[in-house]
Amino acid sequence: MRLPRGFSDEVRQQADIVKIIGDYVSLKKRGTNYMALCPFHQEKSPSFAVHPTKGIFKCFGCSEGGDVIHFVMRMENCDFPEAIRLIAQKSGIPIPAAPEPGQAATADPEQVRAASLYALNESACAFFEHALQSNEGSAARAYLAERGIRPESAVRLRLGYAPDTWDALSGHLRKRGATSDLIVTGGLAVAREESSGIYDRFRDRIMFPILDAGGRAVAFGGRSFRASQTGREGPKYLNSPETPIYTKGRHLYGLPYAREAVKREQFAVLVEGYLDFLLPFQEGVSNIVASLGTALTDPQASLLKRFARRVVVNFDSDPAGRSATLRSVEVLMRAGLQVQVLALPDGEDPDSFVRGQGGAEYARRAAEAQNYIDYVVDRAVQGRDLSHPTTRVEAFRTALPFLAIIPNAIERTAFGDHVAARLKLDPQLVHQEIRREAQGRKSASGPEGETLSRPPSISMTESEFLLLETLLNEPENATILAGALSAGELDGLPCTPFLRRVTAALVAGVAPDYATLADHIGANAQERDVLQRVLVPKKPVPEKAWRDWFTDCLIGLKRTSMERQMALLQDAMDEALSKGDDQAYREHWMRRTGLKRVLARNGLLETRTISN
Ligand code: UTP
Ligand code: MN
Repeated sequence: MRLPRGFSDEVRQQADIVKIIGDYVSLKKRGTNYMALCPFHQEKSPSFAVHPTKGIFKCFGCSEGGDVIHFVMRMENCDFPEAIRLIAQKSGIPIPAAPEPGQAATADPEQVRAASLYALNESACAFFEHALQSNEGSAARAYLAERGIRPESAVRLRLGYAPDTWDALSGHLRKRGATSDLIVTGGLAVAREESSGIYDRFRDRIMFPILDAGGRAVAFGGRSFRASQTGREGPKYLNSPETPIYTKGRHLYGLPYAREAVKREQFAVLVEGYLDFLLPFQEGVSNIVASLGTALTDPQASLLKRFARRVVVNFDSDPAGRSATLRSVEVLMRAGLQVQVLALPDGEDPDSFVRGQGGAEYARRAAEAQNYIDYVVDRAVQGRDLSHPTTRVEAFRTALPFLAIIPNAIERTAFGDHVAARLKLDPQLVHQEIRREAQGRKSASGPEGETLSRPPSISMTESEFLLLETLLNEPENATILAGALSAGELDGLPCTPFLRRVTAALVAGVAPDYATLADHIGANAQERDVLQRVLVPKKPVPEKAWRDWFTDCLIGLKRTSMERQMALLQDAMDEALSKGDDQAYREHWMRRTGLKRVLARNGLLETRTISN
């Protein structure tokens, strides 16, 4: 059910942000703000602040910030409407009733179809589960047992069996009201080419349901398991095609089972396959997910980022697995995650390793996984004779992109030293190369690449920052500003375009609250970050200070603006002088002297800027 327009604003305004956030973290009043240990990163002293009346929060450590809806979305890992509902519920704001039956026809057809596809997948999943436990599933159960999967694990992970017929599933789903069209759209059956009718896509396979983060079945992978049959019935794994509710590379196998453990442990183990997930998970490694297929995709990395800060990549130790590891490392780094690599002995994958050595040993190795740079350098030096300087340089070139991608400059330098020592190369040259590569990356990737650098990256002077603070924290200041500076002066304000956009909006009467202002000026991520920082002052500020500080800022602004005019007049005087135009020279001089007097009279004259 959709929520009516404007309801989110109502919820944002009415909800008590301190109460809502206080349900998740323990807030202590400090000055105007409430402070807590940040729930989004690990810290020992609180840098997470909530401003009770402005309705926003900000962490000065990890820079996460936003309004109450954003907070709940992050904490609950839910979408926007879900967050609104939750906040409304907790705040006792009545949620508008579902549309009248007559209006239901106007519901979004895409949403209606998605809802029936979720229901269809759920029915199919239950059908497969049931089949696995029945007589016809006995061979499949035996195979799972052979692979070391205990019956209760199969039940817990909702494994199933697709019977060896052409229509068992389709027939079952149709009996429950699904149309052939829907079953085909859902990827569970295939339309016959020659005649009309459909046939089941999955036959005689062990079924692994792929669930979204909320636990809804969105697709399936089916493994053929009879020795005689492998090859005959197509690929080892047959997967659902893309459907309106399933896009490949956007899900992680096992995520709904692992998410709590991942959040708790703050890191996730990332493996490739269904079985690589299953065995470790069964043996107690519960913070694990599988990418399904080869390298990780960007959407999968951002999905993971919602729960984890660090990822331990553990793909197969064959050549394909190794190159998938390197590609995934890059994707994970780009998403801003910390990355480690667990390299198992040759020929082992997580599934075989756990069966051989147990879950505890696997967990121990995962906890001690090497930093990805060491892995990259290991790979780079493998099979190379390091006594030759050229091969050492070659190895360095292989590792270089992985060094350049490290977002933090200090870390980058430390790893540079480390690699230089390992490869016996001149650290100075190594750093120089890394810097060059890193810069090349930044300019090549444009503004998006900036997410790699930590906040805040808008260049604002301290005084501009102060001006913004005083403007946003004392609404009346905007009115004063509008009165004090002419429209021309305002446009010509010598400051960052961002600050000019904000002042223009405020002078035009836009409310200085975070959500309204950010939306009005179309603030990007960095600009939002600055707004959040400004709106939740780090240190408590006495109420009337905003006024006094603003007066200072205004004087400063006025001075900068006048100084700019004076500099322009000076240029004009120089030009007049060179042309021998005495008349013009005198005029400019008079105006400039006039400005100088005003500055002096108001105590604005700064000797360093004024000559003669
Ligand atoms: P693997 O071949 O490593 O399979 O492929 P696995 O998961 O380890 O399974 P077992 O141990 O052989 O039973 C890794 C992943 O690649 C995808 C599957 O998601 C699989 O889990 N894959 C593999 C396919 O989609 N189709 C295939 O034919 C093979
Ligand atoms: Mn395997």
